[in-house]
Amino acid sequence: MNITRIALAAAIALASASVPLAAQAQAKIKVGLMLPATGTFAALGTAIENGFRLYVAEPGGTPARREIEFVRVDDESDPSKATDNVNKLIKRDNVDVIVGTVHSGVALAMARAVRESGTPLIVPNAGADAITGPLCAPNIVRSSFSNWQPGFASGVMAAQKGYKRAVTIYWNYAAGQESAKGFTEAFEKGGGKVIKELTLPFPNVEFQALLTEIAAQKPDVVFAFFAGGGAVKFVKDYDAAGLKKTVPMVVSGFVTDGTLEAQGASAQGILSTLHYADNLDTPRNNAFRKAYALTWKSQPDVYSVQGYDAAQMLSAGLKAVKGDIKQREALQAAMAKAVIDSPRGKFNLSPQRNPVQDIYLREVKGVNNEFRGVAVKALADPGRGCRL
Ligand code: PHB
Repeated sequence: MNITRIALAAAIALASASVPLAAQAQAKIKVGLMLPATGTFAALGTAIENGFRLYVAEPGGTPARREIEFVRVDDESDPSKATDNVNKLIKRDNVDVIVGTVHSGVALAMARAVRESGTPLIVPNAGADAITGPLCAPNIVRSSFSNWQPGFASGVMAAQKGYKRAVTIYWNYAAGQESAKGFTEAFEKGGGKVIKELTLPFPNVEFQALLTEIAAQKPDVVFAFFAGGGAVKFVKDYDAAGLKKTVPMVVSGFVTDGTLEAQGASAQGILSTLHYADNLDTPRNNAFRKAYALTWKSQPDVYSVQGYDAAQMLSAGLKAVKGDIKQREALQAAMAKAVIDSPRGKFNLSPQRNPVQDIYLREVKGVNNEFRGVAVKALADPGRGCRL
């Protein structure tokens, strides 16, 4: 042991001996942040973390003055590493609560792990339907959406516009599959027909052959699910292939969220459905956008909102237990019944603990997804297979 280490150990021993018990109980809350810091979803992870930190820094963000210590893991959006990564947080770092992640496949492994350990989990993006379906649990809440929700709303909109023949195109994993399923359910209920499903493995971006297939099929409308870096390339390639002029899109909002600066002219006019729109003109959203831009020198997107709301959920739970995060049952019950005053609009959680929320129709204008109306009001995921 070198001198500094000895000095530090002595200081800690001295501190814990002299600090009264009540103050010791107020140790920092350990939040495990499991998000992508690399790969096609890296920017999404940053936006979630920035949103989360913004709320925590607000007055009252950490009730009972509990300080937060972050333990961060880059999950690389890689499901094959997910179980090891989440177990590091649970078993090695002994975190009090986990916030994560973006990718549905990674989040499914996280849900399984916390069902065993009992660690509270707040999901700030990943939409895997099963998380608030068959894998639902008292210690899992979601501040974002289920994959079914925005897909279903796109289907409603496409049918309402009178389109009859649709092609769906998506990454072939839970998020793409379940978004497309939601789209198909609503579109076909509304009188349309999905004539072709085109897929590629996550995170591939070789779209050319699939775009040629869309041109050959000549559908009335295309529904797509991509996000992050992959969505940037998809929208540019769709335009470059000449399809933007001939086949309209009604897409999952993630295709055009957090991506518009990079997509530029290719994204203009694209219609999408999501639980957030940049220019929602409410005092809550305006204040949020201003604070976010001041703090992070960048504009917020749906991911920032979901991170911010994940922190609001934790804060609501902590308030109920006066900062004592070890009271898991009471903390979880309070998070589950909290009404979240989100920049997207107020929402509460379904019995399966997924947001019940308005899904908006948006249109890309400049670098904003502009509000064009409510596609589906107070949409609740059916929560199929959840026994809570
Ligand atoms: C997901 O994998 O659930 C996912 C990823 C990125 C998004 C939305 C959903 O933007």
